[in-house]
This record gives sequence, C-alpha cells and structure tokens, in this order.
Amino acid sequence: MKGIWLGTNWKMHKSLEEGIAYSKSLIELTKDVNKNITFFIIPPYTSLWPIKDVLGDSGIKLGAQSSHWEDQGAYTGEISPMMLAEIGIDIVELGHSERRQYYNENDADINKKAHAVLKYGMKPLICVGENIAQKSYGIAQETIESQMKVCLSGISTENAANVMIAYEPVWAIGENGIPADAEHVSFIHDTIRNVLKDKYGAIGDEIPILYGGSVNEKNSMEYLMLPNVNGLFIGRAAWDLTRFRKIISDADKNTTSARHF
Ligand code: PGA
Repeated sequence: MKGIWLGTNWKMHKSLEEGIAYSKSLIELTKDVNKNITFFIIPPYTSLWPIKDVLGDSGIKLGAQSSHWEDQGAYTGEISPMMLAEIGIDIVELGHSERRQYYNENDADINKKAHAVLKYGMKPLICVGENIAQKSYGIAQETIESQMKVCLSGISTENAANVMIAYEPVWAIGENGIPADAEHVSFIHDTIRNVLKDKYGAIGDEIPILYGGSVNEKNSMEYLMLPNVNGLFIGRAAWDLTRFRKIISDADKNTTSARHF
C-alpha cells in the first residue's frame, strides 16, 4: 500500500470545545505515525479559525465542508472561497451527498465551486456516488462517469494536480448505510481512475481517490488494499477516536512507501 490520506468530515457535529479537544487528541494520536499518511479534518465553519490554531504545525490538514463559487455577494448564509482562503484552509469538500440531497447541489454547481476553490490554491475534494436506484438499474458506472465529467469540466491539467476525489455511494453513507463490498469499490475506483487518465494523462494517475461510506475499524484495510483506493473519507468511525485509533494503527503498519500524489 502506497502513501494515503485519512480524513473525516464532522458534518454538523461537535461543539467548539469538543472540536478543540478532538483536534488535540488527534495530534497526539498521529504524531508518531509514518509520514506517508496525510490526515485531514473537516469541522463546521464556526470552528475553523480556532482549530487552525490548534493544528499549528502538526501536519494535519484542515478542510471546509462546502464553499460558494463567488468571492462575495448577496448570498445569505453562504461562505466564499476567499473567506476560506483567509483562514488558511487546505481542502474544500464539495458535493457531499447530503449537500446534493438536502440543498439541491448538482454537478454544474460543484464544477463552479471547484474552479473557485482552485483559484485560491485550495484543494477541492469532489464527492461522487450513485444512489440505490442507480445501482439497482445497473447504471452506477455511467452515473459516476457523468458526475466526474461535469464536476471536472474546464479544469486544466495544471489545476487537476490539486484535485482530490471521494467515491461515496449514497446507499453506503450514514446510520442506515450498507457498507459497499470491496469488488464494487474496486470497480468504481478503476472507473474513476480511467476518467482521470483519459482527461489528464499522467497527472490523472496522481490524483487521490478516497473511499467513503460506512468505513469502520473492521473493513478499513480491505478498502485500503485496493489498488486505486488512495485513502479513506470517514464519518462516524472517525468521530470517536477510540475507533479511529484502530484504523490509523492498521494503516500505519501497512503503509510502505511515500504518497505518490
Ligand atoms: P459514514 O459517513 O462513515 O458515517 O458512513 C461517511 C460520509 O458521509 O462521508
């Protein structure tokens, strides 16, 4: 297993106090882990400034859960990429299935956001994934290919080097999620890699593709061993550090070479 990314989106969880305590513990937990693993956390907006301070030079990357595409304007309730860049955010998650489902975000919106995030030198972490109906009709592959093409439209090869992808099948996410089997994950990650290579050539091979959706301390290594899985994007099992500790130590033991992306 080559170098990987391990990260967690907190969604609308953790008070500022809880978030700070978590971040301090995560620094402790990861300080002796081999440097081929890059960690990131994605807290709610209100915790970003203080947690940036807590993370300091720990090497743990900080992400935001979404962003608008404009720098400023009459968009009540939104946060702009300029504002996120001011904090020193590394990663901006875009198009999580909950954003798509509850806030009607579509691939074209995600594409505009990705351009805006790249303009500020931050990494868009673009989430794609089929829903259960698309899976049952046998169109998971086409769905992912179409999401990828629209989300990456107009993004140059030079900028693509800063892009990250997360494959998160909608039916695998959250309390009622069914963990995806490794064969399906492998197939879709290969599909995503092919889209990236067709579009970006050698750079397409360097773009990290993370898997997310009911990842836990029992299945994490099975996913990480797949050739085109370059990391894990974890919800519940990472919010609890006793569970995340096991995922981290297993990954630590099996990460043999530097991250190639
Ligand atoms: P989960 O969440 O690991 O709790 O299923 C994953 C996600 O929403 O990214």
